[in-house]
Amino acid sequence: MDVLVTGAAGFIGAAVAEVLLQRGDRVLGIDNFDPYYSTSLKEARCQRVSVIGADRFELIRQDFADMAGLEQALAGRSFDRIVHLGAQPGVRYSLTHPHAYSRSNLVGHLNILEIARAREVEHLVYASSSSVYGGNAKLPFAVEDRVDHPLSLYAATKKADELMSETYAHLFRLPVTGLRFFTVYGPWGRPDMMVWRFTERVLRDEPIPVYNGGEMMRDFTYIDDIVAGVINCLDAPPADDGTAKAGGSTKPHALYNIGNNRSEPVMKMIGLIEEACGRRAQLDLLPMQPGDVTQTHADITAISRDHGFAPTTPVEIGVPNFVNWYRAFYGI
Ligand code: UGA
Repeated sequence: MDVLVTGAAGFIGAAVAEVLLQRGDRVLGIDNFDPYYSTSLKEARCQRVSVIGADRFELIRQDFADMAGLEQALAGRSFDRIVHLGAQPGVRYSLTHPHAYSRSNLVGHLNILEIARAREVEHLVYASSSSVYGGNAKLPFAVEDRVDHPLSLYAATKKADELMSETYAHLFRLPVTGLRFFTVYGPWGRPDMMVWRFTERVLRDEPIPVYNGGEMMRDFTYIDDIVAGVINCLDAPPADDGTAKAGGSTKPHALYNIGNNRSEPVMKMIGLIEEACGRRAQLDLLPMQPGDVTQTHADITAISRDHGFAPTTPVEIGVPNFVNWYRAFYGI
């Protein structure tokens, strides 16, 4: 299979590309190497992927929010399916940089839908977010729950992506699957996220910024479990048969939570990071951040039923795996 992977230099994009290449697919990666976080980390991820992929991996350096540039970059290149993981991520950053989100997550998402439509791809799998649930009081969060009250612009753009995708599934019968990722962590992760930030600071004996005094819970999902789920979904496009799909669409549009199905206290994660680093953390207890959600917990019934999704990595394994990778990567 020939797969276009957007955000191929990103955390999840590079990991998905790696496994697609390992099983023999061809991958056309696209990424603009946005400096939101370390571009040398993005380069290192791509280097790893290109070693695995050899001549079955090609990388295009292009911003997919630029439609003319995107069309030009893709001209003469073919692909059967798309995994659209490129985005402006981060909940808290969206309060200070809203236009980065409208550009990548709204215009960019529309551009990828247009490419999928023009190329008549067999399936488009795209990234949504657990943040669409906002302050949902009902736990765990299920794809049937209403998600009309986002707490951040980031969440609002991800919800908008789901709506745009629904219209393309309806109007153009484009098979699409949206995945609501739940706080993904692990080796080659994102430096703006909690597990990375805390590990970095604990190893430097610097205080860690703990929001809401640590009274937060997240469904932390390990990268290998995520990759397995993304690829299982990619392999099975929703049928255009009028039956209701996960999330309620009667178009060929399925929507799933992809999480670990366990809600863990942030303070427990800090304990695991301390243990793996062999050092105590200095806590800088801070107030709740605007836009943040106090708790997430994924109901994964739908993706387990339809795609056999079964996460196998508890945080007790995943956190030390990350810390060990981090120390090896930076030689500390
Ligand atoms: C993450 C990603 O940043 C989003 O891109 C993604 O869409 C989202 O997961 C999701 O699951 O949908 P978040 O859950 O906030 O967002 O992930 P982290 O940044 O790792 O934060 C996890 C927890 O640690 C939160 O409770 C946060 O408030 C807390 N935290 C984070 C801190 O206490 N201090 C920090 O410095 C960073």
